[in-house]
Amino acid sequence: MSAEMSTPNPKDAMRISVSEALAKVSVYVRSLGLYGRAHPIVEEMVNAAQESLLQALASNPVISVVVTERYLALDSFPVEDPTGCLQSFLELLHERQIGEVLFSAGVSVPDIDVFAEALSMSAETLALHGGSDTFLKSRGVTNVKALRETDETQTAEGPAAAQVYNGALVLAEEAMEAVATGMPLPVADIRSAVTDSLHSLMTDETALLALAAIRSYDRYLSEHSVNVCIFSMMLGRDLGLTVEEVMDLGIAALLHDVGKVFVPSEVVKKPGKLTEEEWMEMRKHPVAGARALAGMRELPSLSATVALEHHMYMDGTGYPSLGHHQPHLSSRLVTIADTYDAMTTERPYRTRWTPDEAIGWMLYETQDRYDRQLLARFASRAGMFPIGTFVKLSSDDLAVVVGGSRQSPRRPVVKVVAPRSRRRQGQVVNLAESRHRLLSITKVARPVEVLLPYVDALAAA
Ligand SMILES: [Fe+2]
Ligand SMILES: [Fe+2]
Repeated sequence: MSAEMSTPNPKDAMRISVSEALAKVSVYVRSLGLYGRAHPIVEEMVNAAQESLLQALASNPVISVVVTERYLALDSFPVEDPTGCLQSFLELLHERQIGEVLFSAGVSVPDIDVFAEALSMSAETLALHGGSDTFLKSRGVTNVKALRETDETQTAEGPAAAQVYNGALVLAEEAMEAVATGMPLPVADIRSAVTDSLHSLMTDETALLALAAIRSYDRYLSEHSVNVCIFSMMLGRDLGLTVEEVMDLGIAALLHDVGKVFVPSEVVKKPGKLTEEEWMEMRKHPVAGARALAGMRELPSLSATVALEHHMYMDGTGYPSLGHHQPHLSSRLVTIADTYDAMTTERPYRTRWTPDEAIGWMLYETQDRYDRQLLARFASRAGMFPIGTFVKLSSDDLAVVVGGSRQSPRRPVVKVVAPRSRRRQGQVVNLAESRHRLLSITKVARPVEVLLPYVDALAAA
């Protein structure tokens, strides 16, 4: 009898060892945040956590821990938490919408490290990596899985593109207001607006890019800032920058022109060409912006760099003039997005250039100003006909570009919106397909505003 009492049955033994192992993982995750990975105590903790997990896995090839509302469960029973360590671990998992964690035999210290890295990210950043499990897989971890909660309310998609775009617009305006009045920047809100934009770009960039194609010049500066942010992040992602780098780039791009709040508004808003003196004032905005942003510690330092360098060209021209200083990669990227957006926007004193005219001018008339490789990438990506561009087809139908083709930038996917024949209304045509080879784009239609209702519907989808 006494022997039976002192030797737990295999199931209980398993529960105890899982409880111990999870407590050690939890303590390791917490200590990592406190001391950093290089600390010897932290090294000891991760080794202890791995050893403990392997022990628990000795009698069972897989441990599945389900995250319930109030506790972690193993085979539908709460995992004991005698030390109270598991509560904060449970919260971490909840916040990241993780519904189940599976450890399997062979789990290694690097596997646990990547799992801890996932838990150290904010829920938003983790979502940008495609969620916890995609992140673990992308890092080659197969012995730890962190599956999402299946609750539909938790897995609902992010806000619609129009909401994301408008949210970013409001933030761009608030940021300029804050800089102008010397108030602190709403950095956390800016970060979350940029996170939403990146999320929207990653799930369906069509709608967001269509919104960027439409603008009114009364909100010029904020729309311009948001568009430059969207184009820069699109290019940054294409270049293979990490999510964190794309985020910092997005914030910097959103704030690149804040220095304009220090330029007299009659100069910024002048509905005509600037005089030489007015230009002198205008040319001060990069330095003024960089100065304002450099003092804000919670911002990535890249923001001040990009504000300073976004009018400095690769050939040494532009302003402020620092000789043959080579701008940062992010600044070179923002310069391209900035020029493109400025050229394709209607201004009181000139009509807008069409996307193909703007790209053509940058590629063939002023190519020395830009990083050639980035510009080539942007041209093929933005395409001669970016999403949201209205085009006239050789059939005389009016269509809107709804998708790009990397292989054939001149032959995107279009949707017919104003056909000569009713039959073709709403037809989606991939011009890159050989069966449509006789059809081509004859010109870019303007103004886009005539078809605004269509784009609104697209953006809200
Ligand atoms: Fe600027
Ligand atoms: Fe700009």
